[in-house]
Amino acid sequence: MDSIVVTGNGPLHGQIPIAGAKNACLTLMPATLLSEEPLTLTNAPRLSDIRTMSTLLESLGAEVAQMQGGQVLTLSSHSITNHRADYDIVRKMRASILVLGPMLARDGHAVVSLPGGCAIGARPVDLHLKALEAMGAELDLRDGYVHARAPGGLRGGRVAFPMVSVGATENALMAATLARGTTVIDNAAREPEIVDLAQCLRKMGAQIEGEGTHTITIEGVDRLGGATHAVVPDRIELGTYMLAPAICGGEVTCLGGRIDLLAAFCEKLDEAGIDVTETEAGLTVARRNGRVRAVDVVTAPFPGFPTDLQAQMMALMCTAQGTSVLEERIFENRFMHAPELMRMGAQIDVQGGTATVTGVETLKGAPVMATDLRASVSLILAGLAAEGETIVNRVYHLDRGYESVEEKLRGVGARIERITGQ
Ligand code: EPZ
Repeated sequence: MDSIVVTGNGPLHGQIPIAGAKNACLTLMPATLLSEEPLTLTNAPRLSDIRTMSTLLESLGAEVAQMQGGQVLTLSSHSITNHRADYDIVRKMRASILVLGPMLARDGHAVVSLPGGCAIGARPVDLHLKALEAMGAELDLRDGYVHARAPGGLRGGRVAFPMVSVGATENALMAATLARGTTVIDNAAREPEIVDLAQCLRKMGAQIEGEGTHTITIEGVDRLGGATHAVVPDRIELGTYMLAPAICGGEVTCLGGRIDLLAAFCEKLDEAGIDVTETEAGLTVARRNGRVRAVDVVTAPFPGFPTDLQAQMMALMCTAQGTSVLEERIFENRFMHAPELMRMGAQIDVQGGTATVTGVETLKGAPVMATDLRASVSLILAGLAAEGETIVNRVYHLDRGYESVEEKLRGVGARIERITGQ
């Protein structure tokens, strides 16, 4: 297993390119199952999760061609030759559940392994299943798989989500594009990745209105065509790298960044004394003056503060002036980075879904353990600002969601290198 060694090296200066969004690409790729024509995705991120999704789609009979080192993907599923998504792939990546809606909509049957939980929570898929049942699907859960059928095809229905779910909204949206009649999704997720999916589906011929609002209306069509679509920039990678100059000092421009992707996050940075300037090139970030101020954070569905940036914000708050209260309201176990940050001298008190952070002047480098994707990068951010050397172990978590993190940070002056494990 690889490790990453970070040594505090003072203020950072320069530019960091932001890749296409992992969480947009992971829902855009299964959309190929809805059409016999090829779907080309540009600005795709080069990540292990994307490779896992490619493997899954190929196991179903799709073809995935990569160009430009994986930045351009051309996917085509002339026909789905296997309608079973096996546990050994699904357990590695929960987003695999997103092949269920498209397969069911295209061919009227699918067998998909239940994804199981992960480090940050139980992460059930009941809302995905209820949405498909509202469109006439017959579902049978047995031996750890969802056996789904829609003999006469899916029909339009009303999907009323009791709580916001990004993945369930994506599954419902894709399935509804080929359902007979009108589907209305109430309490839909509003994330930019949902908007990106809707815009791509519309290019394929889908009839969709209201993406980005609480209510999405879809008129089913008989078939969808192909399309070429550029993946939206990754707002979580963007927010992560915006925190690098915030925690270390200096000035960094995140190329391709846009404030509309992260308005709530940028407001919190402003409150903490961090300047964010939008330019043609992207977002330029620098501390206003002196020490960062402690701010309170509550995670919420978009347009609220993203749960995927909570761990990284906690790293910044560890060296802020004052006390910060971070409330994690989306997942039930998303503070596993806290004990690792405390090994570096952070003062954090975790009570259930609330973490209270009392800022310290400086953190001290230490060996720490990555536990999940976003926790791993929060440890790297802390290591950038710490005195001495931090060794982050189990960085395979990191490679799922961050493209060449060492090169991007070295490019702005960080001392960071990867040690390839045995
Ligand atoms: C997506 O996960 C993202 N993953 C997550 O990013 C992100 O944290 C999450 O949305 C919230 O923004 C991808 O897009 C691949 P949810 P998803 O359904 O769709 C509960 C990362 O780091 N729920 O919006 O699984 C669920 O347990 C990852 O890139 C149900 O109860 O998230 C959670 O508490 C981590 N039943 C809440 O809803 C369901 O059927 C929100 O989950 C579905 C979800």
